[in-house]
Amino acid sequence: MTIAFFDTKPYDREFFSHAPGYADFEWHFHEFRLSSTTVNAAAGAQAVCVFVNDRVDAACIAQLAELGIKVIALRCAGFNNVDLAAAKQHGLLVVRVPAYSPHAVAEHTVALLMTLNRKLHRAYNRVREQNFSLAGLVGFDLHGKTVGIIGTGKIGRITAQIFRGFGCEVIAYDPFPQAEWAASHSVHYRTLEELLTQSDVVSLHLPLSPTTKHLLNEQTISQMKPGAYLINTSRGKLVETDAVIAALKSGHLGGVALDVYEEEEGIFFEDHSGEVLRDDRLALLLTFPNVLITSHQAFLTQEALSEITRVTLDSLVRWRDGLEAVDERKLP
Ligand code: NAI
Repeated sequence: MTIAFFDTKPYDREFFSHAPGYADFEWHFHEFRLSSTTVNAAAGAQAVCVFVNDRVDAACIAQLAELGIKVIALRCAGFNNVDLAAAKQHGLLVVRVPAYSPHAVAEHTVALLMTLNRKLHRAYNRVREQNFSLAGLVGFDLHGKTVGIIGTGKIGRITAQIFRGFGCEVIAYDPFPQAEWAASHSVHYRTLEELLTQSDVVSLHLPLSPTTKHLLNEQTISQMKPGAYLINTSRGKLVETDAVIAALKSGHLGGVALDVYEEEEGIFFEDHSGEVLRDDRLALLLTFPNVLITSHQAFLTQEALSEITRVTLDSLVRWRDGLEAVDERKLP
C-alpha cells in the first residue's frame, strides 16, 4: 500500500517508517500540508495520512477522490479540519486516533499552569543571566484553589484528577456529565456560568465545533473571576483572541497559557525564527509576561507517538484486508 504522508515532521518519519512489520507499506513523506493546492502530491497513493492543520475541505476531498484515494487517515483525535460530509459523498473512509495518550495532554496542561503561576519561564531566563533576584516571581499555592474543567472527556478527566492530587477543588462543565467518575473523584458539576464565576483556573478540554467556537469570548471571559488563569490545550478557535488580549490588558485575566492558537495554521510546528512575525495578535501576546505559549506540543511524548503510529497503521491494515474499521476510529 502507498500512503502519501503530509505535514511530515522528523519524529513522524522516525516512528512511521521504522514501525516493525509494515515493510510492504510505501511512504511518500511530504513536509508541506495537504490542501486543494497540494493535493496532486497524493497521486499514486491509496491513502493519505494527515494531521491537525492539513486542510481537507470539500474541494480537496473531491480531488483526492479523483486521484483514487480511498482512505484519509488522521494521525490525531480532532477532525474539525476534515469535511466529513464531502468524504462520505465521495465514498472515502476517514479514520482517526481517538485517544493516544490523554496523559500527555493532561500533564502538559498542568505543566503550563505550574510554569505560568510559579513564573518558571521567567526564572529560567533570569538565572541564566546571573540575575538571582526574586522580584516579580510571586506565585500562588494551587492547593485549595478552584479549578474549572470544561469538557470531562478522556483528557479533561485526567487533568481533573491531577488537580485533585494538588488539593484543588475541581468543578466541571460538560453537557454529558460523567456522574460516577465525578463522585469517585470528588469533582462537582456546575453550569458553565457557575464554573466561570467560581474558578481560579479554567482549563478547556472540549472539541471545536460550530457551537463551541469562541466559547470563551468577551461576555464569558467577563464572567470569570478577576485575576483568574485560563489554559487552552484543546483548539485555538475555542477562544476569541481579541477578547483574551483585552482581558489581559485590563488585568481581568491573571494569566493565559495556550498550547493552541486561533490562527496557528501556518505558524505552529515550523521554525520562523529568522522571519518577521506577521501575526500582530500573536506578537502582542508574546510580549505579555503572564502569557505562556507552546506550539501545539501537548501530545508530544514517546508514548503518544508510538500509539498514534500503532493505531494508524492498524486502521490502514484493516482497510487493506477488507475488515471494518474499529468503531470509534471511524468518522463520522
Ligand atoms: P473527548 O471526546 O474524550 O472529550 C471531549 C468532551 O468534551 C466530552 O466529554 C464532550 O461531552 C465534551 N463537550 C462537548 N461539547 C462541550 C461543550 N460545549 N462544553 C463542555 N464540554 C463539551 O476528547 P479528549 O480526548 O478529551 O480531547 C479533548 C480535546 O483535546 C480534543 O477535542 C482536541 O481538540 C484536544 N487535543 C489537543 C491536543 C494537543 O496536542 N494540544 C492533543 C489531543 C487532543
